[in-house]
Amino acid sequence: MTLEDQTIIVTGSGRGIGRYIAKRLARDGASIVLTARTEREIEQVYNEITGNGGRAIYIRGDAAREKDVKAVIGEALKKFGRIDALVNNAGIGVRKYLWETGVKEFEDVMDVNVKGVFLYMKHIIPEMRKRGGLIINISSEAGKTGIPTLSAYCASKFAVIGLTEAAAGEVENRTKIVALCPGSVDVGMFKLMFPGEKADLEPEEVAEKVADICNHPEKYNSGQSIVF
Ligand SMILES: NC(=O)c1ccc[n+]([C@@H]2O[C@H](COP(=O)([O-])OP(=O)(O)OC[C@H]3O[C@@H](n4cnc5c(N)ncnc54)[C@H](OP(=O)(O)O)[C@@H]3O)[C@@H](O)[C@H]2O)c1
Repeated sequence: MTLEDQTIIVTGSGRGIGRYIAKRLARDGASIVLTARTEREIEQVYNEITGNGGRAIYIRGDAAREKDVKAVIGEALKKFGRIDALVNNAGIGVRKYLWETGVKEFEDVMDVNVKGVFLYMKHIIPEMRKRGGLIINISSEAGKTGIPTLSAYCASKFAVIGLTEAAAGEVENRTKIVALCPGSVDVGMFKLMFPGEKADLEPEEVAEKVADICNHPEKYNSGQSIVF
């Protein structure tokens, strides 16, 4: 099992892409820290992973709240003694014309998709600077190209790439930070926002890509946006 000694936090792992990522990394032997706001969903994923002989813990938390982020990282360290990788996957979307997007809707998207990524990086990088680590920030194709009706979401996903590139330049070589930019994925928010439309990717393909990055970080450059 290639990730046997590793502890990996996957945010937003109660459903959607995050659930696939968590289960895929657990299959390679990683100890998974599951977190999201809905406890019964992360508990369900925990049961699926441990039921298959994997290792995991689940901790309820809001990625946009600093207190929660510190608690998740603290619990992970208490339980496993180390954090090798972080997958910043938690995110929300809104599909509206810019002029119809409410200020609160805009703020909520920024809070989770940008502040959440910032907070997790802010509190985990000092840990990773001690012994190295890997951060995979889930951006999107919408973080590279402006897509009509997704202005707030695009702004947030472009920002994730900015955070990734800037932070990658700040840390030593032992810590690698990349952004993953998938096209549309046939699960979760895509199904809600684009009902009936065909997606570019299956969630298993995104999970496989994340597993490849965790298993072969040497194939990727720090600060890179991995588009696929
Ligand atoms: N689906 C796509 O086509 C697609 C394409 C490219 C990129 N992405 C990105 O992939 C990620 C996952 O998307 P998805 O489609 O799987 O979405 P999803 O099915 O809606 O799942 C989102 C996950 O994030 C969690 N989450 C949301 N707000 C949170 C918060 N404040 N704190 C902690 N967890 C929170 C949700 O749980 P709770 O609500 O219980 O907290 C849930 O577990 C997002 O970053 C998204 O932007 C998606």
